[in-house]
Amino acid sequence: MTEARAVSFSQTTLTELMIPAYANFGGKIHGGILLSLMDKIAYVCAAKHAGGYCVTVSVDAVEFRAPVEVGELVSLHARVNYVGRSSMVVGIRVIAQHVETGVEKHTNTSYFTMVAKDSAGNPRQVPPLLLETMEDARRFLEAMKRKDMRAQYKGDFDNERSRMNAINELDLLKKERCVLGM
Ligand SMILES: CC(C)(COP(=O)(O)OP(=O)(O)OC[C@H]1O[C@@H](n2cnc3c(N)ncnc32)[C@H](O)[C@@H]1OP(=O)(O)O)[C@@H](O)C(=O)NCCC(=O)NCCS
Repeated sequence: MTEARAVSFSQTTLTELMIPAYANFGGKIHGGILLSLMDKIAYVCAAKHAGGYCVTVSVDAVEFRAPVEVGELVSLHARVNYVGRSSMVVGIRVIAQHVETGVEKHTNTSYFTMVAKDSAGNPRQVPPLLLETMEDARRFLEAMKRKDMRAQYKGDFDNERSRMNAINELDLLKKERCVLGM
């Protein structure tokens, strides 16, 4: 059995200045820039824990709670929350800081599932996670719950979709802001 690695072994922080080239047409930072940084730090954190190449498999809920401005410093804090056989859930907390005032805002927290791959491209077993604090244990347990709830939601939604017949449910569209043009 591979030796367990502590959360602190792979914990990673990345800080980047938000330059004008990252802005959208409204002058705020483009969401895709933040997603790209999140994917990058998720890779670094997972690759450190796994000791090798990893891929992004899924992202659990990205919600931008506040806009990020040009000139702000964005810091991403990532840590492995959960480890399966080949998969790892990396929790990422994103903080934007106004350089002059020092005021910080928490823009979002998301969970990236990464899978370690071997040289043939197959999922590869990663070291277990050493939980050194109660917080580490809480995060691991929460990730297990999110995983179970996602599987439950997927099952429920697949059932609902196979049961649903769009023609019989067109009435539901009457109270929505859409126009049937067929
Ligand atoms: C995800 C992928 C690795 C699954 O491969 P597979 O051969 O079906 O392997 P498995 O079913 O054993 O899954 C491997 C692990 O991924 C996890 N997994 C698979 N699909 C998942 C999903 N949608 N969400 C979360 N975890 C998932 C499994 O639970 C398993 O975890 P475990 O080893 O910790 O138990 C494979 O489909 C893949 O490589 N996808 C492309 C990923 C990629 O290229 N990302 C970059 C996009 S540019």
